[in-house]
Amino acid sequence: MKTWFITGVSRGLGLALAKAATAQGDRVIGTVRQDTRSWPADDGQVRLLRGDLSDPDRIASMAREAFDLAGKIDVVVNNAGYGLLGAVEDSTDEELVSLFAVNVFAPVRIVRAALPYLRAQGSGHIVNITSVAGRAPSIGAALYSATKHAMEGFSASLAEEVAPLGIKVTAVAPGQLRTDFLADGSIRRSRTADPSYKASVGRVTSTLDRVNHNQLGDPDRAARAILAAVQTDKPPRHLLLGSDALRRACDKTEDLTREIELWKSWTLSTDNE
Ligand SMILES: NC(=O)c1ccc[n+]([C@@H]2O[C@H](COP(=O)([O-])OP(=O)(O)OC[C@H]3O[C@@H](n4cnc5c(N)ncnc54)[C@H](OP(=O)(O)O)[C@@H]3O)[C@@H](O)[C@H]2O)c1
Repeated sequence: MKTWFITGVSRGLGLALAKAATAQGDRVIGTVRQDTRSWPADDGQVRLLRGDLSDPDRIASMAREAFDLAGKIDVVVNNAGYGLLGAVEDSTDEELVSLFAVNVFAPVRIVRAALPYLRAQGSGHIVNITSVAGRAPSIGAALYSATKHAMEGFSASLAEEVAPLGIKVTAVAPGQLRTDFLADGSIRRSRTADPSYKASVGRVTSTLDRVNHNQLGDPDRAARAILAAVQTDKPPRHLLLGSDALRRACDKTEDLTREIELWKSWTLSTDNE
């Protein structure tokens, strides 16, 4: 039996993961912002901690409370997050700061608060839910992609740093999942929309509106894949979820390789003799 700490278990992927973990007999300590019908009451198997991830003090205290409650935590999942759509030029400082607070600073703070406990345990698995947008970004979500790139880089470096301490790290990059992610109440949009970006950013965001609640990926299947990754002795450091994620990541890798080759002579020209 494992004990999980998962942020954002009120709905979506976090809820699916918490349900899948409890279904196999594991214990879950999950964070929610407010009371939720998804989990009508705390019980022995599921404990809820209430707090908003944009509050740095609450983040650290939730992580501490989780370890105090459980004694030992096997898997820490940074799942909660949201998307921001719109052209970079139209975004505000407030949108930028709020997005990074929840999608980047919160998970980093959780990891920082959890590490002394995981180190003392000599074991633990940190799972950061990033996005294929953090590897192969598309138009209209530059700031969201920036947060997910940040978490991809953070996870890759952290994995090396904590491996000698017996701690594993996996960055999970889903493609589109059929959750509330694109629905009002989750996704945010930059308040202004300059007509210059109608044919580019506007076209993509309209497509996403049509995809809302009709996404290709199944969060329950995604949860099962994450469970499988956590169960192996040698878990992946990077895990893509969904055929769309696979296609986008492979196309991006090919493009990158092609461009590296094309500019290789200039790349090699800058070393000191
Ligand atoms: N769905 C996709 O297509 C997709 C694709 C790639 C990556 N992802 C990533 O997957 C993760 C889960 O998203 P989802 O698809 O499950 O979306 P979702 O259905 O909108 O659920 C988002 C979860 O994050 C929580 N949350 C958002 N802001 C928060 C805050 N300030 N403080 C605390 N909790 C907060 C929400 O809590 P409330 O219920 O209180 O709002 C909810 O539990 C996110 O990191 C997202 O970036 C999703």
